Amino acid sequence: MNVHTYEKLWLIAAMVLIVGFIATITYGSVGLGIAMVGDQQETVEPTELADDERFGEPRVEQIGDDEYEVYVVAQTFSFQPDPIEVPENSQVTFHVTARDVIHSFSLAGTNVNTMVIPGEVAEMTVEFDDPEVYGVVCNEYCGPDHHNMEGQVHVVPEDEFDLTEVSVDAPDEVDAGESATVDVTVENRMLDGLETTAELEIGGETSVEEVALEGGEATEVTFTVDPETLEADDSDVEWAVTVDDHEERGTVTVIDAGDEDGGDDGGETDE
Ligand code: CUA
Repeated sequence: MNVHTYEKLWLIAAMVLIVGFIATITYGSVGLGIAMVGDQQETVEPTELADDERFGEPRVEQIGDDEYEVYVVAQTFSFQPDPIEVPENSQVTFHVTARDVIHSFSLAGTNVNTMVIPGEVAEMTVEFDDPEVYGVVCNEYCGPDHHNMEGQVHVVPEDEFDLTEVSVDAPDEVDAGESATVDVTVENRMLDGLETTAELEIGGETSVEEVALEGGEATEVTFTVDPETLEADDSDVEWAVTVDDHEERGTVTVIDAGDEDGGDDGGETDE
């Protein structure tokens, strides 16, 4: 049988195209590591996220020298935590779930992108080399404010990164002549130990306590503030607690029973 030369060329070209298409599709589905979020992965009860040990408190955790895990909750119309802070040269595994409806977790300008389905935990491991700020966007329509649903991932220089959590428990008001107690909880979520100080500045006075913590530990520092320190001209005394780069501020109202304009016990006693 005699096949015309042009016909042969067209046949070969068509075969090459078919093989090319199959190769592209195979590479796209296998080679790029694209996975579906499905039942084979971890599941979680979306109505009980608050009690879930992973998602009750969305956060970043260190699990190895340069390895971190991030637990992210997507909900209308935000991501928690926000911003997510991780160090440069790290390998970060994101575990993402949704509280209400289907969202997505997509790092703008990268191929990091997953659908986030209530009840399912999407998992992705990403390597971050250099400090950069990435926008996180939702690209599944999830309601009227879908276009405003955004977050950030901050990849920061190693020396600026820590996983120290500071929370302060201070009274809103205190009776004149009484001392006040300010509790500072410092949590170290890094694997390495932490040595630092907790500083309380109140009514122009500063007290400092040493804080030494093993990795993964938390401690509470208690400051007792003398009544004299609280005797300011103004009945609102400002305080600031500083641990490394973390600062918390607030005010304590000193309630003077003999003072006409001091709201004693919050009741209306003017006669
Ligand atoms: Cu969440 Cu769109």
